[in-house]
Amino acid sequence: MAFTQDELAAVEKTVAARRTFKVIGDTVDPVSFDDQFDQRCRALVRSAVRAADAAPFHYDRNFGGVAQPWRVDILWHDSCQKIAANFHQWFDDVKPGNKLPGMLSACGACVIVSWLPQFSGCSTEDVSVSGQALPAKDKQIQIDHEHLAATSAYVQNLLLLLTASNMGTYWSSGGQFRTDAMKQRIGLEEAGSVLAAVFVDFLSDGAGQGDASKPTKVAPERVPGKLANKRAAAESWLAEIGIDQF
Ligand SMILES: Cc1cc2nc3c(=O)[nH]c(=O)nc-3n(C[C@H](O)[C@H](O)[C@H](O)COP(=O)(O)O)c2cc1C
Repeated sequence: MAFTQDELAAVEKTVAARRTFKVIGDTVDPVSFDDQFDQRCRALVRSAVRAADAAPFHYDRNFGGVAQPWRVDILWHDSCQKIAANFHQWFDDVKPGNKLPGMLSACGACVIVSWLPQFSGCSTEDVSVSGQALPAKDKQIQIDHEHLAATSAYVQNLLLLLTASNMGTYWSSGGQFRTDAMKQRIGLEEAGSVLAAVFVDFLSDGAGQGDASKPTKVAPERVPGKLANKRAAAESWLAEIGIDQF
C-alpha cells in the first residue's frame, strides 16, 4: 500500500493535533445535542471504535474465543449523565470535588477500554481452561505486559481516529470505573481491567460537523493535560545506534 505525501501529512497532522482536554460540565445543566448532530457524532464514534481494532497484538488472548486482549464499552451521554446523577450515592467514599460527574455531564460519549489479564490476578482454574500447561512465571508476566501494551495501541488508535473526526479526547485512567462496584452497576466485563475511560467531546470543533449543540448555561471548563508542556526535545530521549566496532 502506497501513501501520498498528502496522506502522510494528514497522519502527521492527526498525531500532532491529538491533545488532552478534560472538559468539565455541570451535573445539573448537562450537555445536550440536536438529534441529527447526535446521530452523526455517534456514527463517527462507532466507526472509530471499530477502525481502532487494527491495533497490533502479540498473543491470542482467546477469551470467550476472541483473540484480541481488549474489550470496549461505549456509554453515550444519556447513560453518562445517569451515572453522574447517581455517582455520589453509589460512591460515598469519594471527595465532593471528584471531577468524574462533571466530565460525565460534558461528554458526548465515554468509551471504556479494558484489557484482559491472562495470568496476573487470575485463578489457576481460569488460566488452565485452554488445557495447556502454564508458561513459566516470567513468560506469564511478559504475555500480560504485551496484552496491556496491545490495548494501549488500541487506545491510541482510537484517540487519533476521534481527533481526525474533529472530536476532543481525554484518556483518563478511569477512576471509579476501575472498581468492581462500578463494573457490577453498569455491567462491564469483570475479567477486564479498565485501562482507559476515553471522554469524547462532540463539541471540540464545530467545523465539519455543523453547530448543532444546545448550549449549556455555563460553558464547560476545558483543562489541558498537566504534562502537555513538559515534553523534552527529541534529542534528550532519542539516540541512533551505529554498530561499527565489529
Ligand atoms: C495511561 C494514561 C492514563 C492517563 N490518566 C489520566 C488521568 O487519570 N488524569 C489526567 O489528568 N490525565 C490522564 N492522562 C492524560 C495525561 O495527563 C496527558 O496525556 C498528559 O498530560 C500529556 O498531555 P497531552 O495528552 O495533551 O499530550 C493519562 C494518559 C495516559 C497515557
